[in-house]
Amino acid sequence: MPSVHICEVGPRDGLQNAKHLMPTAAKKAWISALAAAGLKEIEVGSFVPPKLIPAMADTAEVVAFARTIPGLKVVALAPNLKGFQRALEAGAHKVTFPVSASRQHSESNVRMTPDQMVEEVRKCAEWPHPGVELEGAVSTAFGCTMQGTVPEDDVVRIARALAEFCDSVALADTVGYANPAQVRRVFSKVRQAIGAKLEGAHFHDTRGLGIANALAAYEEGVRSFDSSMGGLGGCPFAPGASGNVITEDLVFMFESMGIATGIDLEKLFAARKILVKYLREQTPVLLCVDEWSHWITVVRAEDRRFVVVDSTDDPLLSVCTWPQLRNWWRYHDTDYVKDKPPILYDLMAVSPRFRTTVKADFSVDRVKFLRRPENRRLARHWNEYLEDLLEICKPPSVRIAEPLSMGEFLRRHQELLLTRVVYWHGDISRDEVGRVLRDMRFVSETYGLVIPASMSRRALADLAILVSVWACAQRGVDGMFGAPGADPRPEAKSTRRKNGRK
Ligand code: COA
Ligand code: ZN
Repeated sequence: MPSVHICEVGPRDGLQNAKHLMPTAAKKAWISALAAAGLKEIEVGSFVPPKLIPAMADTAEVVAFARTIPGLKVVALAPNLKGFQRALEAGAHKVTFPVSASRQHSESNVRMTPDQMVEEVRKCAEWPHPGVELEGAVSTAFGCTMQGTVPEDDVVRIARALAEFCDSVALADTVGYANPAQVRRVFSKVRQAIGAKLEGAHFHDTRGLGIANALAAYEEGVRSFDSSMGGLGGCPFAPGASGNVITEDLVFMFESMGIATGIDLEKLFAARKILVKYLREQTPVLLCVDEWSHWITVVRAEDRRFVVVDSTDDPLLSVCTWPQLRNWWRYHDTDYVKDKPPILYDLMAVSPRFRTTVKADFSVDRVKFLRRPENRRLARHWNEYLEDLLEICKPPSVRIAEPLSMGEFLRRHQELLLTRVVYWHGDISRDEVGRVLRDMRFVSETYGLVIPASMSRRALADLAILVSVWACAQRGVDGMFGAPGADPRPEAKSTRRKNGRK
């Protein structure tokens, strides 16, 4: 008899955030392998509007399949009564409801306040559901990327309300803000309020404390944990949230401490192989190499069109169809059916020279824009723009308080920057500066760069300097304070400055 119980949430929490869909067949194979490794409970999906989270559109089919695995408890997430009814119809054994303690996250995630969501769960509990278990999960119980601090009293209050009509209550660190001391404190407070109804702990690893938090919860008496294979995951409606605590790590930690999980690590790694194989298929494997100096990567597939990076192409990025791509590279792989394009995953690097963890959004439209003749300069200087912007900005995955989108920031301050740089430099035109700012905006938006709101003054100064230096490189410095040794001609200069130049 295992001493701790682990619920694998990868097929739900892990995949809901993935940009590309995992084929239903791959989900099934993965779930089977997880069950074979000894997982007795798997959260296989959620019943949310497919338009909102397309990756969960096949949940009913996945639930039906998972039910055929003997001894497996099949869990699904539902955000409202409609989702609950769909879960019942599909035959889920247990349904979990995300009830955020943070008002802002709640409104962003389920478009209800925490109290409205509690009432929604009450409605579900009152709906006939013979034999089906209900779990109320208090999400953002340890902090929220949008609201910041979440008062512990709010967590206790919501847990108490849910305990009235749910079979069990779990505490979830949706965004990975918890620390072990806080975990002990909050679990202990909630346990005092609702006793044994408090069961599960759901941690994310955003700040690397997921496993430490799990241990803290264990020491506080928790015996039921959610985790995700490979640490996939994150709530799409909580900016900055990253993956769950890693199942392999959690199992290893408990087993190495002599605490039985009932899970076979060897078999767990076999299940991991299925995931990795799938993920590898998702990464740009269309990497054909003639010689190592010539390479090609597919960074995005959209509607049977592919965004391709070819090292000999200029600009680097282009769009082509599957037959074009296949003929161009005479690409054949027995894994792929002749006329069926492979499934691909969009990745980050424009060229392997540039190593960054920033993900680029190279949509077909963006690439077409980039390839227009008038945007040659942007394409040519892409890496320089990016490196400079990265000095000022942060990739969106870095957790910062109050992130401001750099694209939006540039839009807001475009006029100010334009006027200042043109005025100071004296010899550069508004059009030229405008073009550079527009290029920077494009790069910022492609990478989703952000700046902390508190740093906006500095960012503005940095940008003004950057663009001014660029203007000097383009048009010299004569207009600024006169060339060295030249006549100062203060009269002429001040007139020109006042009138400005186009
Ligand atoms: N499953 C499928 N369709 C649903 C649905 C569900 N659970 N709930 C609502 N819908 C449909 C409605 O029927 C309606 O369809 P229509 O436009 O064809 O009439 C449409 O979606 C909008 O319904 P509404 O009740 O207004 O929902 P909403 O747009 O206010 O969204 C939630 C509310 C709760 C459904 C949505 O915010 C949600 O699913 N959130 C969960 C997100 C999530 O999974 N987060 C990660 C897990 S923590
Ligand atoms: Zn989660």
